[in-house]
Amino acid sequence: MSLKKRVAILISGRGSNMGALIEAARAPDYPAQIVGVFSNRAAAPGLDVARSEGIATASLAQSRFETRQAFDDALTAVLEEWDVDFICLAGFMRILTPSFTNHWLGRAINIHPSLLPAYKGLDTHARALADQVSEAGCTVHFVTPGLDEGPSIAQARVPVLSDDTPDTLAARVLEQEHLLYPEALRLLCAGDVTYRR
Ligand code: GAR
Repeated sequence: MSLKKRVAILISGRGSNMGALIEAARAPDYPAQIVGVFSNRAAAPGLDVARSEGIATASLAQSRFETRQAFDDALTAVLEEWDVDFICLAGFMRILTPSFTNHWLGRAINIHPSLLPAYKGLDTHARALADQVSEAGCTVHFVTPGLDEGPSIAQARVPVLSDDTPDTLAARVLEQEHLLYPEALRLLCAGDVTYRR
């Protein structure tokens, strides 16, 4: 009997964090298996990667739904069909409805490219550079109704260099994301971290 938790990954684009999670889950002693990858964009390059790994994929377009609520209900139906224990948002560039985030409270996590609570939202690296901060990083946190507001699970820090551009800083942070996200998912699936209000 497999004790591994069943995990789905939600992406919108290239899916490099998804790739890091898939890679980590190959280890026999990793406590999660990736059972599905979902995207709100049918053309997301990460979907092809997931398919080539033999992982189930699904996508839905908002244009097929009258409301955001209807989209999110359909997404929950996909995730329940896959019988998932946890979901990982990995570059999923879509705001989820409170009814979705409350349904999955404690079972959904996200990676964000800043040291939360600093720089919620978009363009994190450009904003950090504009503020001349000396450190940047990334955060894995529980998903709650407030955007990028849920409790933190883990963070990684990198230095900001004097000649950094948003792209060079993003690349340095992304390297850490690829280490941090598998570790945070491991903690969650092993029961070493649980959601508390
Ligand atoms: C990552 O840097 C992730 O932290 C960020 O999007 C990128 C996705 O890259 N997420 C957010 O900004 C969420 N607000 P990936 O598709 O290669 O994993």
